[in-house]
Order: sequence, then C-alpha cells, then structure tokens
Amino acid sequence: MRVAMIGTGYVGLVSGACFADFGHVVTCVDKDAGKIDRLNAGEIPIFEPGLDALVSANVRGGRLSFALDGAEAIRAADAVFIAVGTPSRRGDGHADLSYVYAAAEEIAGLIEGFTVIVTKSTVPVGTGDEIEKIVRAKRPDAQFAVVSNPEFLREGAAIEDFKRPDRVVVGIEDERAREVMTELYRPLNLNETPILFTGRRTSELIKYAANAFLALKITYINEIADLCEAVGADVQQVARGIGLDKRIGSKFLHAGPGYGGSCFPKDTLALVRTATDAGKPVRLVETTVAVNDARKKAMAGRVADALGGDLAGKTVALLGLTFKPNTDDMRDAPSLDLAPALIAAGATVQAFDPEGMHEAAKLLDGVAFKDGPYEAVTGADVVVIVTEWDQFRALDLDRVKLLMSQPTMVDLRNVYRPTDMRARGFRYASIGRA
Ligand SMILES: NC(=O)c1ccc[n+]([C@@H]2O[C@H](COP(=O)([O-])OP(=O)(O)OC[C@H]3O[C@@H](n4cnc5c(N)ncnc54)[C@H](O)[C@@H]3O)[C@@H](O)[C@H]2O)c1
Repeated sequence: MRVAMIGTGYVGLVSGACFADFGHVVTCVDKDAGKIDRLNAGEIPIFEPGLDALVSANVRGGRLSFALDGAEAIRAADAVFIAVGTPSRRGDGHADLSYVYAAAEEIAGLIEGFTVIVTKSTVPVGTGDEIEKIVRAKRPDAQFAVVSNPEFLREGAAIEDFKRPDRVVVGIEDERAREVMTELYRPLNLNETPILFTGRRTSELIKYAANAFLALKITYINEIADLCEAVGADVQQVARGIGLDKRIGSKFLHAGPGYGGSCFPKDTLALVRTATDAGKPVRLVETTVAVNDARKKAMAGRVADALGGDLAGKTVALLGLTFKPNTDDMRDAPSLDLAPALIAAGATVQAFDPEGMHEAAKLLDGVAFKDGPYEAVTGADVVVIVTEWDQFRALDLDRVKLLMSQPTMVDLRNVYRPTDMRARGFRYASIGRA
C-alpha cells in the first residue's frame, strides 16, 4: 500500500519507518525543512534506539522517503496518516488541534481516488467528525473515509511497541476503511496482535482513557510512597506485593518524581476538559493532574531536606534531564520544574544527560551542562538521580564520593539501595523507602 505520513516527529517517523518495514511504500512529510534535510542526509533528528538502522534499511530498500511538500505522496496514497502534534492549548488545557486541522485542509486539496485519512495524533472525541467536515467542505466530490488509529508506542521502546503492540485500535465509521487498515497492519497477524475495530469516537476516547489510567496508576504509587515514608514502609516492596496480583499488574508502579513527557500531562488535562464540557467531570483524573503537578514542584524541597533545609550557596548535580531514559524528549520532564526551583532557592545547578542536553539547553536557563556524570558531580554538595539512564545505575560510587564536596545523594528513581549507600558513607534519600 502507499502511505503518506504527515508529521515526522517521534510518532510519525517511527510509524512511517515501521510501515515501510512491513513492506508498504511510505513518504514521511514534515513542514520543518531542517528535519527533512537531515533525514535526506541520513541523519535521525531524534534519539530513539534502533531507529537509524530501521530508517536507513528502508530508505535503501526504496520503501521510505522524506518530503517537505507532501502533494505527490498524498495524491498517490491509499492512506494518509496525520501524526502532527496536539499540545496543550495555552490558557485552557484543551488539546490544540490547529496542526491537525491545518493538515486536514492540506490533505483535502490533494487526495485522488478513495483515500483513508487516519488520525494517529492523539485527538479528543469528535475530532474525526471535524476532519470529515473539513475535507467534505473543501472537496464535496472526494472519495474518502476518516479513521481514528491512536498510537500507544512508548518513546525509548518505540519500534518494538509499534511492531509488537498489545493491540491496535481502529475507529471507523465507513466499512471501506476496514479493508485498508487491515491490509496496513497485516504483518501483525504473525504475532496474533488483536486489532480492535470500534466506532471512531470510541477509538478516540480509548487513547485518553488509557493514558489517564496509566497516569493515575503512577500517581497512586507516588502517594503510597509518601505514605510509606511517613509510616516506615518500603514502597518497592508494596509495589511488588500489589503488582503480583494479576488484577493490578506490576507495570507503572515505580514511585518517582511525578510523571512527565510528551503525552500524560497534556492528555490528562485534555481529558479533564473534554469531560467537563460533556457535563461528566472525571474527578479521579482531575485529582491526578493536581497531585502530579504538586509533586513535581515539591521535589526541590526533598533536595533541600537532604542538605539540612537550605539550598543557598549549595551545588546540586542533576543526573538525567529527560522525562525518562532512552529518549531525548524533554517535554514536561520533572527536571523542568526541579532545576529552576533549585536555582531560585540559591543553588548552583550542574547537570548531565546522555541524550537530552541539546533540548534541555533550550529550556533550562542557568544550568551548567557537563560532559559526563563524573564532571557533573565534581564539587557538588548533593547528586540527584532525576532520570534512571542505565549508565547512572552503575556509577563508580567511590569516585563519585571523592569528587563531591559532601557525599549526599537524592535518588528520585530508587536506583540504589539505601543500606548499600549508607554503608558506602553517603547520606542518601530516595522515594518511599526508609
Ligand atoms: N511522542 C509519543 O510518545 C507519542 C505516543 C503516542 C501518541 N503520540 C501523539 O502523536 C502525536 C504526535 O506526537 P509527536 O511526539 O510525534 O510530536 P512531534 O512534535 O515530535 O512531531 C510532530 C511533527 O509534525 C510536524 N507538523 C506539524 N504540522 C504539520 C503539517 N501541517 N505538515 C507536515 N508536518 C507537520 C512538526 O513539524 C513535527 O515535526 C501527538 O498527538 C501525540 O500526542 C505521541
């Protein structure tokens, strides 16, 4: 099949490369000329493990190409995917659909023959109906169907998630789209992936309901972690104890500094807005948003506590800046709350992240970016593990201790064991453990 992918970001590039790897002919389109130039020069604009090899193999195989102008690809396409951003709208927290609707306008002017227009972007309930109206208004004669096909991949494991998903959700209102979508995902039959066909609105809501549930689960264990600290229990053992219950499951039960990233913060907020507008407020999600925001803001206080309450004149080393390991994505990362709060309290902040510093430098003023973890901890009064990159799991702690002004660690990801750290002579604080 011929596919045009509009938007070549974290989702569009991975989806496009994976569809090409399935054997389809894919053109990834982006209005960012710099991005397209880099891709055409064989460079990958984001950090995602395995993506460079997948992209180059499919470019070489003639199945994957990149274009600034999508006209040719859209005209030829059986399916045009919309994979543009849907960030929070400033001021009210609704999803900003301006990129989606602009893409729909462009697509409307170009499609030829029966074309399936697929929203891969995370979009609120009813967006598919709006896209259909936009296209119909511009091209009353066009043969098309608008489909919702939300994406569930996780950055850092995106290729595996796309190729071996737990399920694929497809929301259709026009039966002609079913055949095209089935054909696109046919290679997943091999691993017996369930393809769940639903109505379009249902599919749109599934994505938000899933993300909000996961955000809620993280927030739940974070609150339990705080309770553990107060009553002398260990949150990792609590998480294991409840996670082994199959009704609960062990994933997303890692206590930490609060969820961030490109999806949960904006999607929980957008769901709250949708539900309020529908007259059916989702109180649990509202609370999740509030608790998580407060938690991210409270992390600087934990660092201060580890130093006896005062950050003025102290040097803080941050290890990790991205919202999670194996990505360079800085969107809504907990470090974006933490670093400014530390600086505002009078601390000097020096930081290292394996892949995120280029993005972080655009977002964090006043932070000294260092070349490695040992450079970052040199002269520091406290080291904070903000993101659990593998390379921070096996630090040479004797070296760290020697390089620091005073050996203090605040481990926001529970990477190390309290007893080990104390035996090594560190003052050590973590999340939800005595
Ligand atoms: N990042 C994730 O892990 C993830 C996972 C699941 C779903 N999603 C959803 O997927 C969507 C895309 O997210 P992302 O992280 O890939 O965003 P992104 O910001 O990385 O990429 C979006 C791209 O779209 C391009 N673009 C915008 N308008 C365009 C247009 N009219 N024509 C061509 N290109 C255009 C931008 O230049 C940008 O490169 C969002 O709705 C997001 O919620 C993201």
